[in-house]
Amino acid sequence: MSKTKKQAPDGTDTTDSPRNVVGSSGTGVSRRRLLGTAGAAGATGLVLGAGGGAAGYAATRPEEPAALTTVGATEAMFHGKHQPGITTPLQARGHLVAFDLTAGAGRKEAAVLLRRWSAVAKELMAGRPAAGGPDGPGHDTGIALDAGPSSLTVTFGFGRTFFARTGLAARLPAALDPLPAFSADALNAERSNGDLWVQVGADDALVAFHALRALQKEAAGTARVRWQMNGFNRTPGATARPMTARNLMGQIDGTGNPKPADEDFGRRVFVPASPGKPQEWMEGGSYAVVRRIRMLLDDWEKLPVERQERVIGRRKADGAPLSGGTETTEMDLDKAGPDGRLVIPDNAHARISSPEKNGGAAMLRRPFSYHDGIAEDGAPDAGLLFVCWQADPFRGFVPVQRKLDRGDALSPFLRHEASGVFAVPGGAGEGEYVGQRLLES
Ligand code: HEM
Repeated sequence: MSKTKKQAPDGTDTTDSPRNVVGSSGTGVSRRRLLGTAGAAGATGLVLGAGGGAAGYAATRPEEPAALTTVGATEAMFHGKHQPGITTPLQARGHLVAFDLTAGAGRKEAAVLLRRWSAVAKELMAGRPAAGGPDGPGHDTGIALDAGPSSLTVTFGFGRTFFARTGLAARLPAALDPLPAFSADALNAERSNGDLWVQVGADDALVAFHALRALQKEAAGTARVRWQMNGFNRTPGATARPMTARNLMGQIDGTGNPKPADEDFGRRVFVPASPGKPQEWMEGGSYAVVRRIRMLLDDWEKLPVERQERVIGRRKADGAPLSGGTETTEMDLDKAGPDGRLVIPDNAHARISSPEKNGGAAMLRRPFSYHDGIAEDGAPDAGLLFVCWQADPFRGFVPVQRKLDRGDALSPFLRHEASGVFAVPGGAGEGEYVGQRLLES
């Protein structure tokens, strides 16, 4: 049986295995990441050559279980300073689910739920069944039988409305203030916000659904689903070499993300200590801005590729900036062509959103694509479940979206249909549950 690859919440590998490759930082890097992910969101910046050697499924003999592939065997760690699912490499499947507390459920019930959810998440992320749930021991649904952990992550967050409902208004962080309205918003309130938010990600669709179902069952009587969105990304191993993911417009998306190796990465993405302040419990946490952004694909696909590239400011084939180089070359925002015009146009999405043009504002974008069939208008109901992570949305998402809203060449092809902001507390230590520092403060 191949050894399970263990991944810390920051995406680094913690497997005690001689097969691991140790990077120059001294960080263990799993073979699986060499094979297929490279922090698909660009979160890690790793771009390494492919190698062979995935274990594959051996012929099954009852006395000798088949080895898991490296995809199935990869395990993300539940415990840690930060919750998993933030810097974890993008997974192939995702479910975003918001819950509202039921009438009569308050702080005590919420604490019981978070304790149970944490226990279930820990078991499932280790590839074990969700035994001991509301249906009693041994009542795992069996949906994920045969599969390994498959990089499953479960991430929990609190919405603004949670605090008043649980008598915790004094602990409401200012970072959860409602987002300003943007001119291009066409938001559906029923699919926005929510008391609690859960993000499930896994490299296997059945493993992801299994976790989602187990979490929904645990919530029965305490919280009910307010909205659910299902997404996907490229499957690890689908490309000849690890690459940044593409979105449904066909663009390489994630290149400009801050990298964990950047000196200011932690400061930008995670909440620092703030002893004695209302948000003290958020130390090590992060704020997730979630936007369901529909892509107007029928209009987009009519544009010739050169026009599409000018909308973004990068080449479609390889993500290189129009100012030249390769995907990872810095954009030269001042470069002009022979006609004297800027080669990365004034209204190009990558120019307008770049930290350089936003006083350094940056966020870690970690989206899933979605496709829910054909909408009433006859066009695909498809786009991006845009999830971005930052230490403060008012210094990350908000200033950038304000600028994009005013004159981004991409905006005419997008419609923001739902929105939510969630306080995602730091990771649970051993023996602790997620949110304990808030709920037992
Ligand atoms: C469906 C909607 C969107 C699509 C298809 C899209 C696509 C892209 C693409 C292709 C890039 C260039 C490659 C890269 O650096 O990742 C990019 C960059 C970027 N986008 Fe978007 N984007 C969308 C929405 C947004 C939103 C809502 C925001 C934030 C408010 C945003 C912020 C950024 C940032 C910060 C960069 C990196 C800029 C840099 O570092 O130079 N994007 N986006």
